[in-house]
Amino acid sequence: ANPSILILPGDGIGPEVMAEVKKIISWYGDKRELAFDVSEDLVGGAAYDVHGVPLADETMAKAQEVDAVLLGAVGGPKYDVLDFSVKPERGLLRLRKEMDLFANLRPAQCFDALADFSSLKKDVVAGLDIMIVRELTSGVYFGTPRGIFEENGERYGVNTQRYTESEIERVARSAFELAKRRGNKVCSMEKANVMESGILWREVVQRVHDEEYPEVELSHMYADNGAMQLVRWPKQFDVIVTDNLFGDILSDCAAMLTGSLGMLPSASLGAPMENGRPKAMYEPVHGSAPDIAGQGKANPIACILSFAMALRYSFDQGDEATRLEQAIEKVLADGVRTADLMGPEGGTPVSTAEMGDKIIA
Ligand code: NAI
Ligand code: MG
Repeated sequence: ANPSILILPGDGIGPEVMAEVKKIISWYGDKRELAFDVSEDLVGGAAYDVHGVPLADETMAKAQEVDAVLLGAVGGPKYDVLDFSVKPERGLLRLRKEMDLFANLRPAQCFDALADFSSLKKDVVAGLDIMIVRELTSGVYFGTPRGIFEENGERYGVNTQRYTESEIERVARSAFELAKRRGNKVCSMEKANVMESGILWREVVQRVHDEEYPEVELSHMYADNGAMQLVRWPKQFDVIVTDNLFGDILSDCAAMLTGSLGMLPSASLGAPMENGRPKAMYEPVHGSAPDIAGQGKANPIACILSFAMALRYSFDQGDEATRLEQAIEKVLADGVRTADLMGPEGGTPVSTAEMGDKIIA
């Protein structure tokens, strides 16, 4: 059987950028005999409009069945007034939670043609290719007790950073497995100097390394130093593995090393399924961009690079993924730009569809 993909375009520019990915998927079927069984469904506000919930049960069930989910973006001003329980984001959170997608992969990769776009000096970022692995399903965003309580006439807020050994082990394994296919180097970041969860994190990552991945180079770094090093000399890293909170912040920081939000893909992976493929969802980092939605201005590259990650991590098509990335590099080197990639000197931007067509060409 062909590998299966569930496409959830979502809201705003989600369907616009996903249209370009659909063209590329068709191209693979027509031109490279790499056919996928593609189905499509609703998520976010689009699902709420039809079903009254941001993710229908049938859609959730489909997501559990397929080899990979591709998601566009969710949300928009129209839905800001909705109750928290049916907000578009809840559709996304439900997918992540029920598929148990515990490893969030955020590459920071600098295309040479866009090196001038970085807020850093060109030689600091040119050729940059690092991967941040953020633990996504545990830690301080989920730990209990949590809440706002009162004591002695004063309120206080509580969140709890809690990690079990097995939670640390599985995300560490994801990072080591990735490193083996890349630069063979992992840097683990925590704050073992001031946090017990950090002490355990460091100990468990080291043990997984020593027992299962002794051939991978492992280092440890305090997360605050990690933030400095990411900006000072990011090319010292290959794979960075860190917890949910530090990963949230460090991956946003790393993302900006490379320029536009419209260029950033992500993958969220879970445990292997029966066929050996990991549970997986791929999505651009950006949101639904209501300010430019419906105008054909959106940059589809983040979504296309997310599909390239699917080729690599779900479908064992690393060579095709590289070729797709090279096509993007070539188009950018030729000076083709969507509006978000134009500097102050200006020029004529291409539309979302034109960018997709150039990449295919
Ligand atoms: P956003 O990422 O949608 O937009 C931020 C800025 O970047 C906007 O000026 C937008 O035009 C621009 N931008 C984003 N993606 C672009 C692309 N592909 N090409 C060109 N320009 C692009 O974040 P914002 O404005 O904070 O949120 C808008 C909506 O999206 C909200 O409803 C928010 O909740 C939702 N959102 C959804 C996410 C998701 O689905 N994973 C993630 C972040 C926000
Ligand atoms: Mg964030």
